[in-house]
Amino acid sequence: MSKASAPGKIILFGEHAVVYSRPALAVPVPKVHADVEITDSPNPGLWVEAPGIALNAALATLAPTDALRTVIERVFQTLGVHTPPALHIKITSTIPVASGLGSGAAVSVALIRALGLTFGQALTDEQVNTLAYEIEKLHHGTPSGIDNTVITYGKPVYFVRGQTIETFHVGKAFTLVIGNTGVVAPTKETVGAVRQRWQAHPTYWEKIFDQVGQITNQARSAIETGETASLGPLMDANHALLQTMGVSSPELDTLVTAAKESGAMGAKLSGGGGGGNMIALVEPQKAESIAGALEAAGAVSTIITTIQ
Ligand code: PMV
Repeated sequence: MSKASAPGKIILFGEHAVVYSRPALAVPVPKVHADVEITDSPNPGLWVEAPGIALNAALATLAPTDALRTVIERVFQTLGVHTPPALHIKITSTIPVASGLGSGAAVSVALIRALGLTFGQALTDEQVNTLAYEIEKLHHGTPSGIDNTVITYGKPVYFVRGQTIETFHVGKAFTLVIGNTGVVAPTKETVGAVRQRWQAHPTYWEKIFDQVGQITNQARSAIETGETASLGPLMDANHALLQTMGVSSPELDTLVTAAKESGAMGAKLSGGGGGGNMIALVEPQKAESIAGALEAAGAVSTIITTIQ
């Protein structure tokens, strides 16, 4: 039997601008994860079971463009496996789908690793990351690659598209509450909407992206030097720019306001926007009460996580 897991992730700063080569900061969220277990199968061929999406079927019966089928077939190509043996692939995940926590990339990474182990080929992080990025491209149009990177390496990442992966140091641990609007919002759509606006007025949008990039760099210094207090205003400023980009939503804004009103030091949407999750920077002793305030304001779930 082979098993592999991959964590969820959140983007702290810089989403969307990162698609246009500005830096972004992201961290893994190990409290939520995708898990893959591969065993010999009594059925011939490959069988895929994913209870979370009510799937229990032979791989060959899935549409050729199906996300899981594509990942599995792509990994076989890389491993040079032409005739796969009878295997039962079970995928479970506690990461909410299409909500900015990297569920798709986490399933890809866990699957790639588990399949590699099954065939006795421990793939390097770089190989896993490259494959997971290919899959992201198939399903998300023009992804920056930040999701697959932070999830593959499982470390805080300072990410600039096309550049060597850089991790960053957390000078002093800080606590976040993640609030899920429950609104499913495919990243492809918000990324596409920003692209249309950028194409219509590139000079204007490049300036917005520059401002986001500056905030991200200031945030990195604040995190590295342990000046957590200055992160709150930077989150607020990043959220305001995301609102200007048109990627926030009434539900996200309601949760951001509720977080601030209940004592968060700063708050912003996280990920593609349009729905999905927001994050709030909180003093650890206030985390539970702020999570409660988010739930009272409509969050369908909350996660308290410490970044260290
Ligand atoms: O919605 P998520 O968590 O997959 O994040 C998307 C981040 C974007 O910057 C909006 C897109 C990208 O590919 O980086």
